[in-house]
Amino acid sequence: MKKLTPTIAIDGPAASGKGTLARRLAVHYGFHHLDTGLTYRGVAHALLEANMPLDNEDMACLVAEQLDLGTLNQEVLSAHDIGEAASKVAVMSRVREILVDAQREFANKEPGAVLDGRDIGTVVCPQAEVKLYITASPEKRAQRRHREVEQKGQASEYDQILTDIIKRDERDMGRADSPLKPAENAYLIDTSEMSIETAFTTAVSLVDKALFE
Ligand code: C5P
Repeated sequence: MKKLTPTIAIDGPAASGKGTLARRLAVHYGFHHLDTGLTYRGVAHALLEANMPLDNEDMACLVAEQLDLGTLNQEVLSAHDIGEAASKVAVMSRVREILVDAQREFANKEPGAVLDGRDIGTVVCPQAEVKLYITASPEKRAQRRHREVEQKGQASEYDQILTDIIKRDERDMGRADSPLKPAENAYLIDTSEMSIETAFTTAVSLVDKALFE
């Protein structure tokens, strides 16, 4: 391996498949994995629970400082509404600074780490050995999210999910601080017409090349 503690940076819009891919790559290489979306979701969830407005930056900073990356409950935080709330919290620069510091510390864990999010290759770990940008059409992403919610036995409306996904893309891509965009040297993988298996083998061959050749 070229470097002792390599980082694999994975970015992309909501429901692009980046989370599944990141988890599988982490298992494959024996690396740690951080879904950085959970850090923004964790802050949003705490504000919602405390009945605080989502745009109270001082309060959001306090919550962010106390966030323990080891206790983020994916089951609770994966709710669709918390994702929406997280993208509102994520526009606040001081909140981002605090969370990005914690994410960078995580990225230094040995023997290596996979981080997925919106700004990993551009802001959090611009030095990452390999950067992937995972995307898919809004319609495909809405279909996947709709199916996931239904499989959990919860009510889901495709049209509403598609509207939310388009709105979230606009918020994530249009914000002033760390907007979602591919890093200059990122490999683009469009999963619209691709199985997760094909996306995984494509990613492994790119990562192998970057880390071992
Ligand atoms: O990926 P996930 O849907 O869990 O992310 C929730 C929200 O958190 C995103 O819509 C985005 O606004 C924000 N986020 C971010 N930067 C990251 C990860 C997530 O701004 N690195």
